[in-house]
Amino acid sequence: MLGVCYYPEHWSRQLWQRDAEQMRDLGLEVVRIGEFCWSRIEPEDGLFKFKWLDEAIGILAAQGLNIVFGTPTATPPKWLIDKYPDILPVDPNTGATRRFGSRRHVDFSSENFLREAKRITEILVKRYGDHPAIIGWQTDNELGCHDTTLSASPAAKYAFQNWCKHRYQNIRKLNQAWGNVFWSMEYNNFEQIELPVLTVTEANPAHRLAYQRFASDQLVAFHRDIINIIRAHAPDRFITHNFIPMCDTEADNFALAEGLDFVSFDNYPLGRSDLFFADSERTKIEPYQRTGHPDYSAYFFDQVRGLSVGDFWIMEQQPGPVNWAHNNPRPEPGMVKFWSMEAFAHGAECVSYFRWRQIPFAQEQMHAGLLRNDSTKARAWDEIKDLQADLAKLNLHAPAYRPAKVALMTDADARWVTRIEQQGVAFDFEKVEFAFYSVLRELGIDVDFVSVDSDVSKYSLVVAPCLPVIPEHLIDTVKNSDALWLFGPRSGSKTAEFSLPDNLAPGALQTLLPVKVLSVDTTHPEQREALQYKGETYQSFGWREELEQQDCEIVATYANGSPALLKNGPLMYLGCLTDADFMRELFTDLCTELEIENYRCAEGLRVVRRNNLVFLFNYSNQTQTANITAAGDFIIGSMKVEPYSYSVFQNL
Ligand code: GAL
Repeated sequence: MLGVCYYPEHWSRQLWQRDAEQMRDLGLEVVRIGEFCWSRIEPEDGLFKFKWLDEAIGILAAQGLNIVFGTPTATPPKWLIDKYPDILPVDPNTGATRRFGSRRHVDFSSENFLREAKRITEILVKRYGDHPAIIGWQTDNELGCHDTTLSASPAAKYAFQNWCKHRYQNIRKLNQAWGNVFWSMEYNNFEQIELPVLTVTEANPAHRLAYQRFASDQLVAFHRDIINIIRAHAPDRFITHNFIPMCDTEADNFALAEGLDFVSFDNYPLGRSDLFFADSERTKIEPYQRTGHPDYSAYFFDQVRGLSVGDFWIMEQQPGPVNWAHNNPRPEPGMVKFWSMEAFAHGAECVSYFRWRQIPFAQEQMHAGLLRNDSTKARAWDEIKDLQADLAKLNLHAPAYRPAKVALMTDADARWVTRIEQQGVAFDFEKVEFAFYSVLRELGIDVDFVSVDSDVSKYSLVVAPCLPVIPEHLIDTVKNSDALWLFGPRSGSKTAEFSLPDNLAPGALQTLLPVKVLSVDTTHPEQREALQYKGETYQSFGWREELEQQDCEIVATYANGSPALLKNGPLMYLGCLTDADFMRELFTDLCTELEIENYRCAEGLRVVRRNNLVFLFNYSNQTQTANITAAGDFIIGSMKVEPYSYSVFQNL
């Protein structure tokens, strides 16, 4: 399915009818509305105006469009903020109250916010829950966006104290767990506990980890309440949420996704690539400034598929230049079609474009739509038409089957621990995880993302790029699995309370692999050192662990001959960050040994499998030839894939 995000409240009524007809003419089947319209449905306390909304829904429904309704809790109106100022969150970095005048100005510990959010949600779902045109609900909008999961308000502090009480039971236990004797940080009772913000120098990392976990729990609890209300009044409609990139939610995304029917993602390949790659990585991204990095959207598609364990939606798809990155280039011609097909290839069931018409006022005037603000058709229009012609040739029956044999294990604690204690600038969790992912994708390997709780029995290779906190049950999972496991640097390096394990890193992993990390060396990312593997020289950078081992197979060594990568039976431990060349070589060898199909993709070319279809995507500006064998016929294109284009063949 294809869809669009539409805001009837932004346009005069005269436009609605024609808009709906044009949506239908374009072949769109889904339209998302509602997620920011609180001030128009309840302009004053208790005064409701539904006539306009009824009419807009009626017009869209009459054209056969299926509606997804977004609950408007990301934008509480001014009168509500004036009535309950404690709804506003407090910025943990400055201690300043974040003000009204944009969006997401809410504090998930404010009782007033929670009550009001539930109230407006209930009113809407009661009114529209069984409307035949409304097929599903979107909770809120992009939870966590604009750094809004953490708040340092008095309400958050109070809720945090209670959270601590619940977790630690008595204050001595908390002091001990956090190591508060250090710098006389001990508390005498839970009521004394501060939030770890605005401290003179760094706050206790255990305290910060607790604060992150607490903030995530608050967000998840809010989300669960909203889901329950929708479920109660619209029991046979789906519920989804449009996620932002996993690192940015500041939440445990697996917990946040619980209770949803499926997960959605907002895909902005250019804006996000621009923000992700630092200036020092310019050369890496330069060729892709109008396409996005070949693995960056896929990295999120595969993650959201992991969250919903199955199909997902793209609720917002970039249709042209956006307005919010450092630079906002125009996509190469064909990219809107390309990105959409790529999402389908990775398992999407619907791609919905943001937004219908470019808005001439307020914050997002420079953001493209499917129409320009004078209602003429923007470039994406024809691309969507072309896309539909291609989609009609493919049998994308649901649920999408993915034959992935490789799993990447990801984890919220891992993100938080490495962010709180970076230790070396090279260690950015998302960059580390992405480097592993990207190399696997360059080898044409399909990747599934899993959590520490997932069933991994179908995989031949499980890669945990960095897993500092190893939950006890994971050791059993590893023991009972037939897969080969590769743990990356810092794995097992912390206890659940952010201390060093008594037996040294990699802590609990030592029961499976006799190795100890004696010291850690972090250097400027550009300072490279030799890494020896199978007689060839590669590079380590940024993070190097000194490993002491017994009876392990030494797979790779540092320049001084000491071990960098060890293997013991089906378990491997890598103690450093490395260049992509090394990882490519290593994964080629591992996958070949495990009989996982792999090949070097040409520059910018990527392979994705869905059901029995094999998709080839060419992100580069050159025609690229795929060096893979096609057992069946090409449905779209050929082995020679044109720039910014894709081919699809059927495997028998
Ligand atoms: C998303 C958001 C939309 C809109 C869009 C602009 O992050 O959900 O409301 O702001 O970005 O690209």
